[in-house]
Amino acid sequence: MLNGTPPVSVRMAVPEDLARVITIEYRSFGDPWSAEALLGELTADGMRLPLVAERDGQVVGFLMGWFVADQLHVLNIAADPRCRRQGIGTALLREAARRGLAQGLVEVTLEVRRTNTAGRAFYHRHGFRETGVRKRYYADNGEDAIILDCDLSRLAED
Ligand SMILES: CC(C)(COP(=O)(O)OP(=O)(O)OC[C@H]1O[C@@H](n2cnc3c(N)ncnc32)[C@H](O)[C@@H]1OP(=O)(O)O)[C@@H](O)C(=O)NCCC(=O)NCCS
Repeated sequence: MLNGTPPVSVRMAVPEDLARVITIEYRSFGDPWSAEALLGELTADGMRLPLVAERDGQVVGFLMGWFVADQLHVLNIAADPRCRRQGIGTALLREAARRGLAQGLVEVTLEVRRTNTAGRAFYHRHGFRETGVRKRYYADNGEDAIILDCDLSRLAED
């Protein structure tokens, strides 16, 4: 335990995590995914990597990834707003990187909204590179997406 903060553990998500995942999704995003879409990502298969972070037995964050060719694509990541800046996002990203490396993948990719300053700071902190822009990618407000990537080996050791 660091500075009185209980440790975070990361495990594969299961459909029973849906209620907590929905709560965190709705607290985190102005355009949340539907319950149906979230549930669809909560079962690991050959392509999906669903992870949750737990603290004191409660889910406090999640990450949803897809294995695509030699890349891990992160579709969604969030930490409960009540416990941000406590290493939850980092623990999820690091575990996803370890699992991606174990599958023989080399790189992680994702998109982030141009105005998501916290998200962009988080990814820069972990060594992501901005490699391009998808103009007007987000349907709700026409905002651009910034495309980011990072070597999995760097992330796993970060
Ligand atoms: C992005 C997100 C997942 C980060 O989760 P987190 O658990 O708060 O992140 P961590 O505690 O692991 O942060 C690690 C580092 O990232 C950077 N960082 C994270 N949040 C930051 C912020 N709001 N402002 C500046 N830097 C930030 C810092 O360098 C931080 O280290 P520090 O706290 O020692 O300075 C979280 O902010 C979140 O859920 N945001 C809403 C959902 C979202 O935007 N997801 C990304 C969509 S692509």
